[in-house]
Amino acid sequence: MHVWVLDEPVIGQACSSLVHTLSQDERQHAQAYRHEGDRNNFIARRSMLRWLIGVYLRSRPESLRFNVTRHGKPALQWPRGTRLAFNVSHTDGLALLAFALNCRVGIDVERQIEGIDFANVGRGIFSPVEESVLAAARPDSATAFLSIWTRKEALLKALGSGLLVEPASYTTEDAPALGEGRWHASKKGTRIAGWTCMDLGLGPEVQGALAVSLDDACVTLCRCSPSTWAENSSFETNLLSVI
Ligand SMILES: CC(C)(COP(=O)(O)OP(=O)(O)OC[C@H]1O[C@@H](n2cnc3c(N)ncnc32)[C@H](O)[C@@H]1OP(=O)(O)O)[C@@H](O)C(=O)NCCC(=O)NCCS
Repeated sequence: MHVWVLDEPVIGQACSSLVHTLSQDERQHAQAYRHEGDRNNFIARRSMLRWLIGVYLRSRPESLRFNVTRHGKPALQWPRGTRLAFNVSHTDGLALLAFALNCRVGIDVERQIEGIDFANVGRGIFSPVEESVLAAARPDSATAFLSIWTRKEALLKALGSGLLVEPASYTTEDAPALGEGRWHASKKGTRIAGWTCMDLGLGPEVQGALAVSLDDACVTLCRCSPSTWAENSSFETNLLSVI
């Protein structure tokens, strides 16, 4: 699977070069953001999403249509019947866009924020096992909190429910035997088998995680840059040869 990193230096450039691919609804959605930074982040990640899906499916970015599932997960409405799964996450000045075939995929990224009341934020969301991992990490529990939080969101975004449906019934736990940064998930004590779950090291004070319903998925991190979408670049050819 591919995880695309869209970061601050290219957000403005993606906005100006790709905004024309957005639908009327998406433009209205963008206008509803009060802060210019948030608006630009939305435009950049949504237009980059369109551009990349367009390459994967050999479709024009502006021809794609999205809808959302019952709990708000964006899905492709057109082209119909595609095998491409995707998910998006963002935090201040950084977005991750994940793509894979024939599976469910969820991704999350968060920046460390000072002064969070860790015990209360996770209440009702973390399982008893996760609560005990967090308690064991006190008083310096920021890293443990961020790790559990991003894993949990990645898993629940892959399942499509987000945090709405019984988040505390799922547990995410380290799985060092599977490799560095690997974790596994269970629901009410039963292991969710056949999934690849991993942390994404994205630099200091930024934590990412992804969950995908594929056994032993191979993940490639790709960085968005203007050459990604520049006309006449060999990028499309290279990408299509990878997939
Ligand atoms: C949806 C949710 C998982 C987002 O988490 P977050 O950390 O705030 O935000 P992230 O940056 O990680 O993810 C945002 C992206 O997730 C995607 N998303 C939204 N709902 C989703 C869901 N149920 N499952 C998977 N992905 C979802 C969207 O692509 C969104 O990107 P966009 O802002 O460009 O449209 C979280 O807010 C949640 O669980 N909320 C409860 C569900 C909810 O309120 N749904 C609203 C409609 S019913």
